[in-house]
Amino acid sequence: MTLTRLLVRDLAQLATPTGDELPLRGQALRQVDVVEDAFVLCEDGRIAETGRMRDLGRLGGEVAELDGRGLSAVPGLVDCHTHACFGGDRVEEFALRSSGASYEELHAAGGGILSTVRATRAAGEEGLSEAVSRHRAWMLRWGTTTFEAKSGYGLDRDTELASLRAIADAGGVVTWLGAHAVPPEFDGADAYLDFALAEVLPEAAKLAEAADVFVERGAFDVEQARRYLEACRDAGLALRLHGDQFTELGAVSLAVELGARSIDHLEATGDEGIRALAASGVVAVLLPASALFLSRPMPRARDLVDAGAAVAVATDFNPGSAFCESLPLVCSLACTQLHLSPEEALAACTVNAAHVLGRGAAVGRIAPGFDADILLLEASDWRHLAYHLGGDLVRAVIRKGEVVRGAEPALR
Ligand code: NIG
Ligand code: FE
Repeated sequence: MTLTRLLVRDLAQLATPTGDELPLRGQALRQVDVVEDAFVLCEDGRIAETGRMRDLGRLGGEVAELDGRGLSAVPGLVDCHTHACFGGDRVEEFALRSSGASYEELHAAGGGILSTVRATRAAGEEGLSEAVSRHRAWMLRWGTTTFEAKSGYGLDRDTELASLRAIADAGGVVTWLGAHAVPPEFDGADAYLDFALAEVLPEAAKLAEAADVFVERGAFDVEQARRYLEACRDAGLALRLHGDQFTELGAVSLAVELGARSIDHLEATGDEGIRALAASGVVAVLLPASALFLSRPMPRARDLVDAGAAVAVATDFNPGSAFCESLPLVCSLACTQLHLSPEEALAACTVNAAHVLGRGAAVGRIAPGFDADILLLEASDWRHLAYHLGGDLVRAVIRKGEVVRGAEPALR
């Protein structure tokens, strides 16, 4: 049901990050405005007004109302790093890993990412569209109202472009991960990049907003990543990198040099990388569900934040390293494993994640003029978002002023 005006009333709390220079860092990353006994008025898909109930004026005309008693409201969550477009699953590999095989060994043996490449190529465009829609519904259940998704499991022209179209059709923010792995039909990364840049980039640049590359041993080295990213930048794409997941190869310097939007993972980043990121505008996207899922060390998030780096958190939802679509769970991990405060975790998966996606002026806050994307939590203190580990606490999800999950509003 599309509603022109929606009033969420009598909320126990309304919590939203406030700081205004994006991306948020330092003190500003901790600034969350909390209003008790609050309302939010949405008009035509945007937030028109927020405040305390006692300051709510008389509303003439037709207004749909949602009863917020006992609930708290936070901005709709923004997942700025997912690989939601894939065929098949990797439950067999998960079982092998649980009894000792390492992710890198499986990758080197032609399993891992390449096994998902085989399943994704076999899925067909319709199958991929169905997969992205299904995964989008999973994310929405946990309050993700804006999601990014990458290609990267096709690695041939048709499947990469079909992936990008499937993501766009499902309403995702589209990233071309054209340099995720070297597919078996190519003799080395350079030969594959020759093909990808000549044959796929021209069309991919019309469908995607950003490009991404996996800088790692067994994937792409820094010089190959530079070549790929410079070509993508020249084609008008924003730049992102998977860097320092297992090995520090120099991806941070490259990200800073090229003015990338983000560098993601950073489990292996040391002091120098932390300093370089803190002095830059590149957002460090932390993926604690992936480190947990692979039993790897967590990135040094506290050091990054304390040094002044801008951080975001995301799920990294994918079939191999993080089969997890829940940002509330990631917020719990951000607090318990990355040692961020609940305030920092909230800013990291709302405002800063929106900035990574080039949408910092439109989503990620509950403030007048922003898209009316709101999550209602069954808790009178919004920090239950992170506190309730794996908890079923999302009572309603509002996207562009429309209740897309949960409580039905009453017309008044
Ligand atoms: O971000 N590290 C590279 N890519 C993904 C995992 C891909 C996979 O295992 O299928 C990641 O963790
Ligand atoms: Fe990833």
